[in-house]
Amino acid sequence: MAATAPVPTLSLAAPYLVQQDWSRYTADQHAVWAELVGRRMPQLEEHACQEYLDGFHNIGLRRDVIPDLATVNTLLAPRTGWNATAVSGYLPGPAFFEMIAARRFPTTITLRSRESLEYTPEPDIFHDVFGHVPMHAHPVFADFLQSYGQVCAGLTRKEDLDRMARLFWFTVEFGVIRQNGKIKLYGSGLISSHGESTYVLSGGPEIHDFDLDEVLNRDFNISEMQKVLYAVESFDQIYEATREARSRLG
Ligand SMILES: [Fe+2]
Repeated sequence: MAATAPVPTLSLAAPYLVQQDWSRYTADQHAVWAELVGRRMPQLEEHACQEYLDGFHNIGLRRDVIPDLATVNTLLAPRTGWNATAVSGYLPGPAFFEMIAARRFPTTITLRSRESLEYTPEPDIFHDVFGHVPMHAHPVFADFLQSYGQVCAGLTRKEDLDRMARLFWFTVEFGVIRQNGKIKLYGSGLISSHGESTYVLSGGPEIHDFDLDEVLNRDFNISEMQKVLYAVESFDQIYEATREARSRLG
């Protein structure tokens, strides 16, 4: 099982790796985390996909304190071999793909301030851990995400990387899935944003059936609400799509 696999060598990402000193978070920062989680949970309990909610529980996230990545990883690694690994901020593409391909999720450890509860342009631990990491406890999503990193690590042409960035955007960040006849949220940009989720759930964007060609060619704008989202029927679909993308690009 991947949990016992040796720690991978991360040469490209090495300059960005940091340690999380959990003892340095202040009581006020824990209170901000609690407020963020408290704002999101009522909506997510009804509208997040079951895999997200299961993951939140299974990796031991708490509503009242900022996660200690060491504790998260103790619970996450035996499930899928993924690891939330502390980094200093945005990574360049090659370093990011190297980590994803090694089942290491680059995780920022800073937390937004109370003044920017709804939105922060920079990633933070709320977006990265609350938004992303619970899905990494799901075996198929876990395989999909690693596969995504492996594909991207092998690409060099900008147009191919742009296409794969769209696949990431419309799945990992803003993906939705149909479950029991309803649209459920799984993308981290939706999970971690009350405004984006409310917009989606109130019928703002068009919801198209997931189509790889359409996704690879659909531009997105990170600074406005999404006009179109893509619904999958299962997470196997995005795993297969990533393998299909590999055969078409590069
Ligand atoms: Fe994200």
